[in-house]
Amino acid sequence: MSEQEVLYEVVDGVATITINRPAKYNALNSSVVTTLREFFKKAEENQTVRVIILTGAGEKAFAAGADITEFQSKNSKTVRPLAENGQMLCKYIESMTKPVIAAVNGIALGGGCEIAMACDIRYASSNAILGQPEINLGIIPGFGGTVRLPRLVRLGMAKELVYSGDHIKADEAFRIGLVNRVFQSVEELKHGALDLAMKLATKPGIALGLAKQSLNNAWEMPLKTNLEFEVDVFCKTFDTEDKDEGVDAFLNKRKANFKHK
Ligand code: COA
Repeated sequence: MSEQEVLYEVVDGVATITINRPAKYNALNSSVVTTLREFFKKAEENQTVRVIILTGAGEKAFAAGADITEFQSKNSKTVRPLAENGQMLCKYIESMTKPVIAAVNGIALGGGCEIAMACDIRYASSNAILGQPEINLGIIPGFGGTVRLPRLVRLGMAKELVYSGDHIKADEAFRIGLVNRVFQSVEELKHGALDLAMKLATKPGIALGLAKQSLNNAWEMPLKTNLEFEVDVFCKTFDTEDKDEGVDAFLNKRKANFKHK
């Protein structure tokens, strides 16, 4: 695997992971998916990294989905590792203790849309196009699209998108809640994603991670278990130095300086 197909850079506590196959609309071949997981793991394990941005190289695409050239010779048995690899990546992103921002800088179709949905926050440029077009290939989403899409948008809307395979523009994605914000250009998107990342990098890391876990659990656990979990992790934050710092800073009318401890 050539590492250049995925780029990794850390600046001021923000790791930027860039899918780098612009000539192929950043299509996700198996080695790209595996390398993405390795880089997310690297970012998770690096104590200096507070926030991760995932984006695509160039001005056209975030990722145009799984690499369709890998589908040709596959059957139900041989394609399984491909789907499992994609699902593992998405689950890993969700399980991370750090916030992950998808900067959707163009086409995010199929697996591209699915990976963006596994991220915590989606910002898009106005040229972004999202969708789950797998039906047009005679298949269905396999990186978690049928599971995460109805959790982010209404079930009826998810069904319409998956059944029709239609592409939607950034404004429509914003309207249905699939992206949080739309920026006029890819350049503005870059700044917007970085501004958010820098802001989140100043927040108390342990509390952020626990908030992420609790919010993600809201999808999976029954209400009662969720609420108990929230109490447990709420209490945990009271044993952190950051809680002492945050409360003291408020009471003394000064800006908190969190140490993520
Ligand atoms: N897998 C493999 N290659 C892909 C790809 C994918 N998912 N998406 C785009 N490409 C490749 C094209 O084959 C083409 O390669 P080539 O220059 O060697 O012929 C190159 O990227 C440019 O794509 P092209 O189709 O010529 O550009 P376009 O502007 O006309 O259309 C898309 C762009 C993204 C709308 C179109 O390529 C597309 O629909 N891609 C597939 C999306 C999809 O179905 N994703 C789900 C996969 S499960």
